[in-house]
Amino acid sequence: MSESQSKSLLQRVDHVGIAVEDLEQAVTVYTALVGEGPRHYETVESQKVKTAFFHVGESHLELLQATAPDSPIAKFITKNGRGGIHHICVAVDDIHAKLAELKAAGVQLIHPEPIEGAQNKLVAFIHPKSMNGVLIELSQDKTS
Ligand code: CO
Repeated sequence: MSESQSKSLLQRVDHVGIAVEDLEQAVTVYTALVGEGPRHYETVESQKVKTAFFHVGESHLELLQATAPDSPIAKFITKNGRGGIHHICVAVDDIHAKLAELKAAGVQLIHPEPIEGAQNKLVAFIHPKSMNGVLIELSQDKTS
């Protein structure tokens, strides 16, 4: 494997994003599932969502509720009834390098440049049309 490939190798599944209609209700049942409450709540203005993060070992579950009718989560709920798995987030060391690789491979990107995500991360979404119907979020820790 070349140096440039290893730099943008995916590190782990960071979280699975789950769209919910009612965050408070969802937190109650997911707390029962996980065994403890969320470690973190955050509203992400850029994506018009409020979120609750649960720790599951080294990974997380991210519950997402829309904060506006034109939020991507509101659209997802309209299409998918009560909610469901919305995206899978994978952590990468160099999000810019990864986006450049994907662009070169002809993959359709929702965000050709990273945007501000929750918890001080740079994130970018890959279009599900290019990923067999799965919305993939790339995430890089700003401190790394
Ligand atoms: Co996410």
